[in-house]
Amino acid sequence: MHSEASLAPWSEALAPRGRPRRTQKVDARGHVVVRVEDLHSGFGEGPVLRGVSFELMKGRVYSVIGPSGCGKTTLLRNLLALLMPTWGRIEILGQDIISAPPARLETLRTRMGVLFQSAALISSMSVMENVALPLRLHRGLAPREAQQAACVKLELVGMVDARDRMPGELSGGMKKRAAMARAIALDPELLFLDEPTSGADPVTAAALDDILLDLTRRLEATAIVVTHDMRSAFRISHEIMMLWRGRIHHRGPPSDFIESDDAAISQFVRGARQGPLAGCD
Ligand SMILES: Nc1ncnc2c1ncn2[C@@H]1O[C@H](COP(=O)(O)OP(=O)(O)OP(=O)(O)O)[C@@H](O)[C@H]1O
Ligand SMILES: [Mg+2]
Repeated sequence: MHSEASLAPWSEALAPRGRPRRTQKVDARGHVVVRVEDLHSGFGEGPVLRGVSFELMKGRVYSVIGPSGCGKTTLLRNLLALLMPTWGRIEILGQDIISAPPARLETLRTRMGVLFQSAALISSMSVMENVALPLRLHRGLAPREAQQAACVKLELVGMVDARDRMPGELSGGMKKRAAMARAIALDPELLFLDEPTSGADPVTAAALDDILLDLTRRLEATAIVVTHDMRSAFRISHEIMMLWRGRIHHRGPPSDFIESDDAAISQFVRGARQGPLAGCD
């Protein structure tokens, strides 16, 4: 959907390998809003991420793809400072989040919208209360104002009629839509979405994609979308990053992935059984 002219020269955006270092580059193409350098992260049984480096630019939509278990959610958790890396640097909106004190992280998080893989709605609150919560906590809106603002977001995702339902009464796709409304409640500068379209039917998935594109264009927000839905990845992405074997195996515009003769990319995109992706290692 993006013209070639609108796509950044991706190879220049790749961060150099090597030891983490401090840089403050803002280049002619726009602002770097996320910078990851040589990220290593894992859970004790050996690292899941083994040297991940990239830079992301303001106003762009990036998809992260890769086999199940390769570390996509782990990467997002590092970017959100929910998990501390064993090595590397992460800069979000110009701030080093690894050394940032908790209060600064909290402020930074109000500039980010997050949709977790599990949707993670608060089960004791209605859909509307879930979406209104960040508006009350971080914008200081009174309950009535927050609920009105929440309804605007719920309207966007086609969930306003379900506003009084509890999360336990929603289908999987409805939960994702409610979580999307909550993620965009504060009009974030950065959106982190972990499988936003899984569980949604193709029409709803396309609608969620449109909301994301509209929001990123309107606010010049940057989105990082983990997805297994290749149709969605091709529709929304300025660039796609494929994670495999603990690193970014390839990064580039959708056309790179459609036309690739790389065995791992081609197998993943086509969903073929034969190929190097026997599972994550
Ligand atoms: N809290 C945890 N404790 C121990 N191991 C974990 C934990 N979370 C994830 N892992 C392991 O880390 C690896 C990467 O998991 P992660 O959830 O990042 O994968 P993923 O790429 O998001 O997969 P999927 O596409 O299935 O969501 C897996 O081997 C997983 O078992
Ligand atoms: Mg995951």
